[in-house]
Amino acid sequence: MTLFWSLYVTVLTLGTIATLTWILLSTRKGQRAETTDETVGHSFDGIEEYDNPLPKWWFMLFVATIIFALGYLVLYPGLGNWKGVLPGYSYLNNETKQEFSNGQPGWTGVHEWEKDMAKADAKFGPIFAKFAAMPIEEVAKDPQALKMGGRLFASNCSVCHGSDAKGNYGFPNLTDADWRWGGEASTIETTILGGRHAVMPAWGTVIGDQGVRDVAAFVLTQLDGRKLPEDAKADPANGQKIFAANCVACHGPEGKGTPAMGAPNLTHPAAFIYGSSFAQLQQTIRYGRQGVMPAQEQLQGKDKVHLLAAYVYSLSHGNASDAEKEKAE
Ligand code: HEC
Ligand code: HEC
Repeated sequence: MTLFWSLYVTVLTLGTIATLTWILLSTRKGQRAETTDETVGHSFDGIEEYDNPLPKWWFMLFVATIIFALGYLVLYPGLGNWKGVLPGYSYLNNETKQEFSNGQPGWTGVHEWEKDMAKADAKFGPIFAKFAAMPIEEVAKDPQALKMGGRLFASNCSVCHGSDAKGNYGFPNLTDADWRWGGEASTIETTILGGRHAVMPAWGTVIGDQGVRDVAAFVLTQLDGRKLPEDAKADPANGQKIFAANCVACHGPEGKGTPAMGAPNLTHPAAFIYGSSFAQLQQTIRYGRQGVMPAQEQLQGKDKVHLLAAYVYSLSHGNASDAEKEKAE
């Protein structure tokens, strides 16, 4: 704190205490000591107030709080840069974390937290280091690592991906074989470390309303192999042309997606995160979508992300995975 702010805080704090003391004492003057039945004269909904002084014990409570406040401000930091006379409530040198000269750290929340963190580092540091040095596929088989990864997932990822990691509207399922950005262990880690920003352009003004209906109908019938609603008023054959002209650059000639851009496979309606009904498809195509996966490297650090990647990897590669089942089909 600069000298100015230090003085500012000190003057404001002591000034407030002095003012309160003055109010307390000055309102006592001129009051008679004995109690009476007289009231001060006002009445609120029939409730009246006796014209009596503050009871003595009550007055003493006020005095006690003032003495307590002054004592506190001498012992502990509170007045600007004043560090308090008790040792250890602040470092002598903040940069080197040097304790007060008598070596007694005293109790503070900061010290307790630092001690806890140091303890946790000592306990978990070697475990993190051990897993950090192992390939994700190996970590994904270790029950202890999966337990730790699962906890990290529950507190950092489940808000969006769901506590079972099966996703929600707008958030992908992480337990199946469909990957928007790729499902190899190292790709999953890259996704979590750096985050992802998907950009599906808006097509409404480019291909027009009928164009949107037609290409949505093409996705629904030919890529997904489903039936068009009766009143669809759309022409999938024209949609195919639009798709070839506008969509294959990202979603690929067969609509199977391009992981490098996060363009999803459009032949698996179950993996659509924005809905797969005819109306929802039109909505996505007309207005575009921009899914954002927030980067975790700064928040969690590399070692925790490694555990998270292993946990996520295990969700789809635990048993005979869907991907393998699919290959077998
Ligand atoms: C604020 C919401 C949010 C949080 C929190 C979040 N994610 Fe995501 N995540 C997303 C979204 C949205 C996507 C899809 C991005 C897109 O549209 O391509 C995504 C995508 C992913 C993918 C890629 C899926 C694929 O199909 O390629 C992985 C892996 C992933 N998240 C893991 C995690 C992990 C692990 C955590 C916790 C550390 C986490 N996410 C936290 C929103 C979130
Ligand atoms: C510039 C690349 C790009 C082009 C061109 C493109 N898309 Fe996309 N598309 C994406 C990306 C990236 C996503 C994922 C958006 C997200 O996750 O938020 C996506 C998502 C979608 C989805 C939603 C899937 C889901 O998970 O719900 C549909 C449907 C879709 N695109 C259809 C089309 C159609 C039809 C066209 C052509 C008219 C098209 N896209 C053109 C990149 C593209």
